[in-house]
Amino acid sequence: MTSKKEAALERGDGLNEIERLDREFVFGTWSYQSEVSPTQIIGAEGVRFTDADGNERIDLSGQLMCSNLGHSADAVADAIASQAREGAYFAPGFTTEARARLGEKLAEITPGDLSKTFFSTSGTEAVEAAIKIARFYTGKRKIISRYRSYHGATYGSISVTGDPRRLMAEPGIPGMIKAPDPYAYGSTLDPMQSLDYIEEMLMLEGDTVAAVLVEPIVGSNGILVPPDEYLPNLKRIAHEHDALLICDEVMSGFGRTGEWFGCDVFDVAPDIMTMAKGLTGAYAPLGATIVTDEIASYFEDNMFCHGHTYSGHPVAVAAGLAAIEAYQENDVIDHAREVGSYLGERLDELATNHPSVGDTRGVGLFRGIELTKREDDRKPFGRREDKVSKGSTVVDEVAAEAYAQGTYVANMINTLIIAPPLTITEADIDEAVGTLDAALDVSDAAMDE
Ligand SMILES: Cc1ncc(COP(=O)(O)O)c(C=O)c1O
Repeated sequence: MTSKKEAALERGDGLNEIERLDREFVFGTWSYQSEVSPTQIIGAEGVRFTDADGNERIDLSGQLMCSNLGHSADAVADAIASQAREGAYFAPGFTTEARARLGEKLAEITPGDLSKTFFSTSGTEAVEAAIKIARFYTGKRKIISRYRSYHGATYGSISVTGDPRRLMAEPGIPGMIKAPDPYAYGSTLDPMQSLDYIEEMLMLEGDTVAAVLVEPIVGSNGILVPPDEYLPNLKRIAHEHDALLICDEVMSGFGRTGEWFGCDVFDVAPDIMTMAKGLTGAYAPLGATIVTDEIASYFEDNMFCHGHTYSGHPVAVAAGLAAIEAYQENDVIDHAREVGSYLGERLDELATNHPSVGDTRGVGLFRGIELTKREDDRKPFGRREDKVSKGSTVVDEVAAEAYAQGTYVANMINTLIIAPPLTITEADIDEAVGTLDAALDVSDAAMDE
């Protein structure tokens, strides 16, 4: 009888042994398993990674928009190793120096009165905690979030998510209601009209909304940057209706925008902020939910009824502390702002040269290229329903061509998501933009006549 391993290895599909074993025994995320084809990575350095055939690629999306410090942040790797040796795990009732100091650091770098943090292990869990905290604190149950958003995979966080990944988890948890987005290129509403819509919702729902939850700059749903006055007014409107403002900074945080956080671009301090990804530069899984002094003090005599085995995991918080020190000591965020402007200019050149580039937008090193099949009516190549259907779109084909030419770039629905390690140089950008230039010929050729 052949073993499960032998059977997996016998299937010849262009994959090497590791890739075939992985394909057989490990679920690919958010995928039809018949379409999963894992690529083995054997090394990474700086802004590049290498596959098992020795091919090197520029990481133009920082893997999943999280490798903010690049792949050679030795100080973070060292902090992980030494904490693992000193003591890899202690229960959340104990503390370590790194956990206390990281809490203090987060209070220092986040805006306004944000001061007390709950640690978890992912962005999803950071959002789950934010939902529960907002409900506990306000005594209200509803959360308004937006359609073009992603907030996580578990039942609470997918229920506040607006993108099509939510649909298979519906009906989700009760009370999670959706609003339109400030999406100048692809929505029928003007961005500021979408804010009026939220105001109307808050008025019509009466005093039942605990919080409005937004990504200050929408990430995977297309890099949507609102007008400057949007976020300050959203906070005002939410507060006028006794609802909290939660900013989900899981993707937009930690220097991605050229500021510490996306909300800093608009000079707005939320009541609750969620973080993950760049918090450790992706060196360890760590999520964080930080709240204002006022919300924190509520829990002095009301139970903080939430927690995990790995809340404040010593190795993960050691990585977080070392990562923040690396951002500070190496001026990573200033660099991101400077080189981000250069990236923006180079992407605008692509828009000039390629008719299928409908829009380029973004801030710092958080940018998107939205494609169009027909320029005059902004017809997209990739539609929302494609996110959960089989097969590939022209946007996937452009990304595949860029990959073949030496640049890894993530894409979602109709937009290439450009969020490289913040350590990227202008020379790396030139190289990557050269491959995108060639890859965009694929979408140019696929345009409607
Ligand atoms: C804005 C935002 N929130 C939450 C999440 C969920 O984070 P995680 O995948 O770490 O659970 C993501 C992931 O991409 C995200 O972009």
